[in-house]
Amino acid sequence: MPQFRTLDDLQLSAKRVLVRCDLNVPMKDGKVTDATRIERSAATLKEIAAKGGRVIILSHFGRPKGKRAAEFSLQPLVEPLAKALGKSVAFAEDCIGKPAEDVVATLKDGEVTLLENLRFHDAEEANDKAFAAALAKLGDIYVNDAFSCAHRAHASTEGLAHLLPAAAGRLMQEELDHLGAALEKPQRPVTALVGGAKVSTKLDLLGNLVTKVDRLVIGGGMANTFLFAQGIEVGKSLAERDLADTAREILAKAKAANCTIVLPVDAVVAGEFKAGAANKVVDVKAVPADQMILDVGPKSIAAINKHLDESKTLVWNGPLGAFETAPFDQGTVAVAKHAAALSKAKKLLSVAGGGDTVAALAHAGAEDDFSYISTAGGAFLEWLEGKELPGVTALKS
Ligand code: 3PG
Ligand code: MG
Repeated sequence: MPQFRTLDDLQLSAKRVLVRCDLNVPMKDGKVTDATRIERSAATLKEIAAKGGRVIILSHFGRPKGKRAAEFSLQPLVEPLAKALGKSVAFAEDCIGKPAEDVVATLKDGEVTLLENLRFHDAEEANDKAFAAALAKLGDIYVNDAFSCAHRAHASTEGLAHLLPAAAGRLMQEELDHLGAALEKPQRPVTALVGGAKVSTKLDLLGNLVTKVDRLVIGGGMANTFLFAQGIEVGKSLAERDLADTAREILAKAKAANCTIVLPVDAVVAGEFKAGAANKVVDVKAVPADQMILDVGPKSIAAINKHLDESKTLVWNGPLGAFETAPFDQGTVAVAKHAAALSKAKKLLSVAGGGDTVAALAHAGAEDDFSYISTAGGAFLEWLEGKELPGVTALKS
């Protein structure tokens, strides 16, 4: 367990508790379309309220860039939050100043209020001291439960932790426990599965992972870049041909670190990228010039699944193929189902995170059986890169 305070170490009764949550949820036409982050925030909020704390929720929503805009208001979150908590939730039209102070002043023990979007003030992202102080004025205690925002050094995720007694919320704790179990002190062998379109967006991540894991499975468009770097012709496939040298450097680094790189050996190819496009399975060394790789083939799936059979820990980020477009979802679905079954049988500790990844696992019907699914997108990636997360560091000091 990391070295910071948790709810267990706080005296919460009658205290004004500022809780940084990540309520940056998908929303369409003013309605929440995926309440996962709200539900996963509920445990901390309920516990504080049950212990008699006065809960003051802080969050950002979207990227309003310092300007107040109705489309970025947190008001539509009041009802879903109330539903998740089983109690009414008050709302303040601003996160600092009189509107916030007035609402907080009327809050009784065990009651909950949500403050308007922090990012209506550009001082939030600037981690401005006066803004952090204005937030601090509203509370006696600060609880950070937003692991998914921990890669941001903003006033509500970093600055505030230095101004009030600070602790990690239950979701923050849970994320750090599981992520730590997957990469910091893992049961070996550890396999990382990294997919997605581009190597360029995951260079640091791959560079870090090869030093930490025993096996690294590379899938998705980025695998094409690695195949190309090894002199394999990939036809019309998406590949960052200008990154061939970089890909070779990663392969060399993996070799030096004794990390086995697993690339596809066969692929599902098609002449065009569209749903239901005519396709066939070919050896990766035989991709026709007018075809593109859109998924891993059956031999690759079998090989990856065997690596999972031999592993004790799996970290997954990114799909293996163009999973949003059938039938190019088959590789991702098959491997996700296999990982889920191994996890359910307690043979594998599987941890997954990142926006696309969670959607891909849900599409495979695998998310319930994974050992842990992070709520984090960008923060999960930065964690995989081995970067320090300012929101976590601030809790420790
Ligand atoms: C996320 O959705 O990844 C977090 O809420 C952080 O949002 P941001 O990328 O706009 O900082
Ligand atoms: Mg993001």
